[in-house]
Amino acid sequence: MERYPLKEDIWWVGAIDWNVRDFHGYETTRGTTYNSYLITDEKKTLVDGVRNGFGPETLRRIGNCCDPKTIEYLIVNHVELDHSGSLPWLIEKLSPVTVVTSKRGRESLEQHFANEGFAGWDIQVVASGDELSLGKYTLSFLEVPMVHWPDSMFTYVKEAKTLLPNDGFGQHLASSKRFADENDMNVVFEEAARYYANILMPFGTQIKKTLAKVQELGLEIDVIGPSHGVLWRRPEDIERIIQAYADWTEFEAEPKVALIFDTMWKSTEKMTRAIEDGIAQEGVRCEVHQLGRTTMADVALAVLESQAFLVGTPTLNNGMLPSVGAFMTYIKGLRPKNRLVGAYGSFGWGGGGVKQVNQVLEDLKLDQVDPLELKFIPTEDDLSACVEWGRSVARRLKQAAEAESKA
Ligand code: FEO
Repeated sequence: MERYPLKEDIWWVGAIDWNVRDFHGYETTRGTTYNSYLITDEKKTLVDGVRNGFGPETLRRIGNCCDPKTIEYLIVNHVELDHSGSLPWLIEKLSPVTVVTSKRGRESLEQHFANEGFAGWDIQVVASGDELSLGKYTLSFLEVPMVHWPDSMFTYVKEAKTLLPNDGFGQHLASSKRFADENDMNVVFEEAARYYANILMPFGTQIKKTLAKVQELGLEIDVIGPSHGVLWRRPEDIERIIQAYADWTEFEAEPKVALIFDTMWKSTEKMTRAIEDGIAQEGVRCEVHQLGRTTMADVALAVLESQAFLVGTPTLNNGMLPSVGAFMTYIKGLRPKNRLVGAYGSFGWGGGGVKQVNQVLEDLKLDQVDPLELKFIPTEDDLSACVEWGRSVARRLKQAAEAESKA
């Protein structure tokens, strides 16, 4: 199978998963890749594995570059199973091979593979700042805990100015082309944003520290080879994706409102459309997502890209509609910050759905507007109140923008 050169003697030998559509709940509508890199230096080295079942594809690509048995090191940047699932199989094919990983990576390998040969693996533990000479190339390691697991590590190939940051800067995007600039850049950046929203949003603080560390180390970067999706090589693309990460960690977003709702008998839907109208009347952009019709991954992306999000639910059995409950659980885990939020919806007799949404928004410590609830079918007066509620949210965004421009 084809292998793709990044730099002299550095190859992409990963696997393309055109069919994956569910990545622990993240709907990967464009599939993904599991990126593995081979350095055919004096000491041949493989950086990261692939998902279980994709080992043979990677091994065939490796076989196009060298005899797999001549590989001396296997770098494990991160032990989540989309990268490590193939390791027991691959290690058997490469053996003897030394597995190089962080202290936490070693612990994680043991916890995952105690029943699959871990005890027999030759493991070398490295820490931030450690270097490993392969011949003409030197690997330098940077532990980046919680970007996005405790074991996460970046590997930097110094002389090739190539950063292999595992899940950092990735996208769930299957493609027959390996480099971002060989693809539709709108799609690439959309998928990079969707990936950040769904995988990395909770870890902004740690990512910010990592970006600062990379800058402090003065790493020159010609190529970024993430573990998913396409690789970044044009200076303008590298600059843009790093800047995008810096903005996302600050929760910079557009002056836009995302309306996220579900409905039972269309009362909450009617409210949504009236709120949308109010927002539009103020000249503020708005997008509407009905849960169950829009993927959760897209809704998370809307939260990343909008300065405000409003959640609408009817009441079912004194609580949220299950689809809204699932979203609130998901968004609670993603921990967005710096957002204006609000809850709204209709109820039949006792209510409870809006209260539950409001409680989650309160737990997230976001800037909240007063909730809006109404009983059964909205009257014309009710709909006017919804329009006014939408307008007031939009005005809050405009006032915040004005204050920021004066600051
Ligand atoms: Fe792509 Fe955290 O695994």
